[in-house]
Amino acid sequence: MNKNSKEYYLELARHCGICKNDLIYPIFITESNQHKSLVSMPGIAKIPYHKIIDHVDNLMKKDLRTLILFGDPKKRDEKGSLSFSHNGIIQKTLKLLKTTFGDKLSLISDVCICQYNKSGHCGILDTKNNQIKNDETLEYLCKIALSHSEAGADIVAPSSMMDGQVKIIREKLNNEGYKKIKILSFSAKLSSSLYKPFRMETFLRKNLKNLDKSSYQVSYCNRKEIIREIDSDIREGVDMVMIKPSITSLDLIYQTSKTCKLPIVVQIVSGEYSMIKAASSIGAIDEIYYLINLIGAIKRAGGNKIISYSSLDLSRFIGR
Ligand code: PBG
Ligand code: ZN
Repeated sequence: MNKNSKEYYLELARHCGICKNDLIYPIFITESNQHKSLVSMPGIAKIPYHKIIDHVDNLMKKDLRTLILFGDPKKRDEKGSLSFSHNGIIQKTLKLLKTTFGDKLSLISDVCICQYNKSGHCGILDTKNNQIKNDETLEYLCKIALSHSEAGADIVAPSSMMDGQVKIIREKLNNEGYKKIKILSFSAKLSSSLYKPFRMETFLRKNLKNLDKSSYQVSYCNRKEIIREIDSDIREGVDMVMIKPSITSLDLIYQTSKTCKLPIVVQIVSGEYSMIKAASSIGAIDEIYYLINLIGAIKRAGGNKIISYSSLDLSRFIGR
């Protein structure tokens, strides 16, 4: 069999136990009317609201049925108020997709304020001392999670790494009658340079230089602290845990999988995507072959679901 053929990849993916059902595809939805290609992430674009049905229809035809949605609002303010508005871009999109596709589609919504506020931080910034106000931020996360649940999200995914985010969101959703909505927490989001393409494309560029999230994202060098973060989300009642980036976290995935009874979601993040695209564009690696190897390694370590910007590229080469 030709090593670069579709049949070869299908066989390899099957051997590694990878199927399309494992893949989650991130999409960026913009409130602007223009389709905007992302320079640092070739092949990925911000999709305008009016094109979303066509876009998702195409994904469904390729059997990609689980999506994680990130919003690109037209305005930002201090508190990120468009993040929890009923007319926010994510809320409108969730409603539209649920009424159009119903339960054929599983929708995960990113719950954070950094794309909606002026600072680009995942928490409310106290400008007096330049610190993040953890507990005040939790109130916003609850409002966002509730508004997404009302709009039709199946799973809400708090990504801000605030302490106590799972517990308070769970309580809020239960009290409001949304017991069935699941929480996927970005439990171990390691502070990393690999989020840079995502930030370049979604945040205000002038803020980027000084955007240091290391006070709330976990350090990649302290294994016990990382495991504690995951354990505390489990105690707070999370339904699925997420670990990211992927390539630098295989040991954590493995360790977590030994004791954790919940599904483990792993994200191949924007910087990993960009590196793979850059290397393959100069012919230095075979993109699909590498991706199947990487996802195979994540599965071998114990990851169950993979969030990847490459899901669409991969869909031709992976069976159901
Ligand atoms: C922000 C958020 C980030 C990512 C997901 N949610 C970036 C950040 O922490 O600044 C990264 C995703 C990626 O790099 O693909 N809440
Ligand atoms: Zn954030």
